[in-house]
Amino acid sequence: MSNRRNFIKKTSIGVAGTFLSSKVSSSNFSKKNQNSMTGLPIIISTWKHGYAANEKAYELIKNGKRAIDAVEQGVKVTEADPDCTSVGYGGWPDRDGNVTLDACIMDHTGNCGSVSFLKNIKHPISVARKVMDNTPHVMLSGQGAFEFAIKNGFHKEDLLTDKAKKRWKEWLRDSKYQPIINVENHDTIGLLAIDKNGDISGACTTSGLAWKMHGRVGDSPIIGAGMFVDNEIGGCCATGVGEAVMKTLGSFLIVELMRQGATPQEACEEGVSRIVKNQNYKDMQIGYLAINKKGEHGAYAVHKGFDYALHQNGTNKMIDAQAFVK
Ligand code: GLY
Repeated sequence: MSNRRNFIKKTSIGVAGTFLSSKVSSSNFSKKNQNSMTGLPIIISTWKHGYAANEKAYELIKNGKRAIDAVEQGVKVTEADPDCTSVGYGGWPDRDGNVTLDACIMDHTGNCGSVSFLKNIKHPISVARKVMDNTPHVMLSGQGAFEFAIKNGFHKEDLLTDKAKKRWKEWLRDSKYQPIINVENHDTIGLLAIDKNGDISGACTTSGLAWKMHGRVGDSPIIGAGMFVDNEIGGCCATGVGEAVMKTLGSFLIVELMRQGATPQEACEEGVSRIVKNQNYKDMQIGYLAINKKGEHGAYAVHKGFDYALHQNGTNKMIDAQAFVK
């Protein structure tokens, strides 16, 4: 066997061994795959706002559209909802009163696009899609992303609703930066779908942590952190404190664990365990969703309270994720 092949073999055994040993030593793990239900197409997304996003995505997939179109159109429902205070229009601003948005999208060929620190554009996911489709780049940021959006037909809009402005003014009285679990840290929408051809795509979009520093960018536009898809294996998306997800490149990690044989549930649990091992998780929420090629899914969070929407076998329903902190 050539040196290169030996290296690959040894590396795979080493990595798989690491996965297995950490699984065995983590007594908080459920050690089961309760989400072994299969069935395609499947659409899965984070939090209650995922329910309506799933409905939209399913409408497209049912009519023979590709997963990449379904994930984009699905999360646009959430971006347009002024009552969703953590995504798109109506999102809570940074500490200076600016609504700044992050989003990414990835298709079954491994193509991807993203935008970060984007202001005044209601649908960052569609700008990310244009970056993917029409540029040689993966990510555009800030003013450059805004100018690109305007050149591509998007309109400048004020995204700070009266409701969000009022909440920001209230926050300014104390100006305390202590994001509250499951409210401010953080209700990103991540959505994954497998279409009738068996192809996987994903989308992730957010206004980021409320009262963040101006210029802060989270995990959601980072391919491999907030979301990742590999059409041979599956996909993963994240919600919660982006810094913790970025430090562990959570979505990429979880897809790679599935490549080594982990179920989506086991992979999500291991993804959370990497966070709680080294970071102070007491006051922060992180949730992962994963699907594999067979249409099995997994979900796991640091704390209770993370729920998700699953559209499978023709039914859309909300499910409470299990959590590391019981
Ligand atoms: N997960 C969203 C953020 O941290 O910005």
